Amino acid sequence: MNIPNHVAIIMDGNGRWAKERGLKRSEGHKEGAKALEKLAIHAKELGIKVLSVFAFSTDNFKRSKEEVDYLMNLFVTYFNEKLNKVIDNNVKIVFSGRKENLRKDVLEAMDNVTKRTKDNTDCILNICFNYDGQQEIVDASLRVSKDLKDGKLKEVDLNKEKFYQYLYQDLPPIDLLIRTGKEHRLSSFMLYQSTYAELYFVDTYFPDFLEKDLEDAIDYYNTIDRRFGNVKTD
Ligand code: IPE
Ligand code: IPE
Ligand code: MG
Repeated sequence: MNIPNHVAIIMDGNGRWAKERGLKRSEGHKEGAKALEKLAIHAKELGIKVLSVFAFSTDNFKRSKEEVDYLMNLFVTYFNEKLNKVIDNNVKIVFSGRKENLRKDVLEAMDNVTKRTKDNTDCILNICFNYDGQQEIVDASLRVSKDLKDGKLKEVDLNKEKFYQYLYQDLPPIDLLIRTGKEHRLSSFMLYQSTYAELYFVDTYFPDFLEKDLEDAIDYYNTIDRRFGNVKTD
């Protein structure tokens, strides 16, 4: 079995999962957080080197104050305590997104978990948080133009591969991109990195997306002939 190097998940459907059970949306977010913990450990066990997840989009700030506050509190607890098992599995945690508009306690928790895991080597868990993929490309372009102006980068040295170094995290391209929760869209998730990603959409709401479902996605990935624009010679 060919294990994708970089898997990404748009973890969608927490709210609908809760609604179907007559629960508050917050309950769905709580269950979603549990699902992520299991998946991250399983991803590492399977030999996936990078797992990127969409945890909170910049556009999610449009939601009610109650929901945003709940999510921020959940993240603080999550980053401070609930990720311990993931950390014990030698997983390095990094964040992609803008720091602006984030609460001090959230930033501290992010900083804390980044520092605690910086030397872990088995797998990278990239948590996209206050993240917008178009904004990432704009921010990267600004950094490129600064380096060009400062003489740190020559125009001849800038190419598609080099550009990765200017994104929020310098990660390999995404091989397999999963979206749970019925909808087939990217919602501005990792646009630069998903150029040749295999897309896998699944109806399951994220809290119900378990280890076996990740394996099913990888099975699908193994059925795909990735041509990257080339043609088969056989
Ligand atoms: C994804 O679930 C989690 C976040 C966006 C934080 P949703 O909250 O979008 O759940 P649905 O799509 O409303 O069901
Ligand atoms: C995408 O889900 C963001 C996350 C999973 C964190 P949304 O629920 O915010 O996306 P839309 O609104 O359905 O496009
Ligand atoms: Mg949603």
